Amino acid sequence: MEAVLRNLFQSLAKNPSANRMAKKYGLRFGAKRFVAGVTIDEAVQAVRQLNLDGRLATLDHLGEFISTRQEAQESLDMCLATLDAIHESGVKSNLSLKLTSLGLDIDRQLCLDNMRQIVGRAQQYGNFVRIDMEDYSHCQPAIDLYRELRQSYDNVGIVLQAYLFRTEQDVDDLNELHANLRLVKGAYKEPATVAFPAKEDVDANYRKIIVQHLTHGNYTAIATHDEQIVQFVKKEVAERGIPLEQFEFQMLYGICEDLQKRLVKEGYKVRVYVPYGRDWFGYNMRRLAERPANVWFVMKNIFR
Ligand code: FDA
Repeated sequence: MEAVLRNLFQSLAKNPSANRMAKKYGLRFGAKRFVAGVTIDEAVQAVRQLNLDGRLATLDHLGEFISTRQEAQESLDMCLATLDAIHESGVKSNLSLKLTSLGLDIDRQLCLDNMRQIVGRAQQYGNFVRIDMEDYSHCQPAIDLYRELRQSYDNVGIVLQAYLFRTEQDVDDLNELHANLRLVKGAYKEPATVAFPAKEDVDANYRKIIVQHLTHGNYTAIATHDEQIVQFVKKEVAERGIPLEQFEFQMLYGICEDLQKRLVKEGYKVRVYVPYGRDWFGYNMRRLAERPANVWFVMKNIFR
């Protein structure tokens, strides 16, 4: 049953019609648990709350499945407006974004130009931009674009996914740039030709690439809610003498709040990924796919 639900949610997440349809409505199906709001003001307010107990944030203006230059322009405007709002409000947050929302599938040059504007604006503010990793078909294009940006900017990082066979090599290759990486298990449905099908193999590879990147001396964001991985990281950094300034834990808005707060109290840096915007559907479906038990949460909220 769990596998059926997982597949269902993963398919819905990448269904363009369902995503487009959902945009017309405010947050539904329990999305309020995972999405901070629809407007920038709501998102900034959510970050302010997190900052109160010492949690940092990364704001993400949700956007997927765009198909026109006009939509890419709107995403660009929202990313710039988010950076402006962070700067003006003084909240402690950087920015996360998806390259497809900035036109990667429409015109690579357009996407690169958009990214230059965003990373350039962040640089003016002394802020940082993280490129989220999408499905496998976008992995190489994202890494190539990241490399190109790094020729001009230092304040940009990318995400790599432990479920992909290629990632161990990517971590090694990106060491030459001392890349600031967010390492995750991976959220998309990928075939066994490119990704480990078994969870224990993903977890083992995750441990491996975390140690690999940390011991290269690079900044590492460990983005997980898996307490065993968190314990593993705490033990490894203590034993290897890796300073607290070289890594941070990251978790998603609305998930494992107690763990987030506990880690802050223990002195670790914790950053919460705070998504907002009208394009909440795909993001919400991926959260349900990760933990089909969340479906009960949806059922309770369905008529709200
Ligand atoms: P795992 O799935 O093993 O879960 C461990 C435990 O965490 C579960 O048993 C449960 O208790 C809790 N948990 C996990 N997910 C939950 C949920 N949805 N609801 C409630 N509880 C949950 N992926 C990607 O492909 N590209 C990206 O750019 C990013 N970016 C990103 C940023 C941040 C800050 C985080 C935390 C995660 C991502 N991800 C991502 C998602 C990531 O790949 C992965 O799908 C999720 O983090 C779930 O995996 P865990 O590491 O939490 O472990």
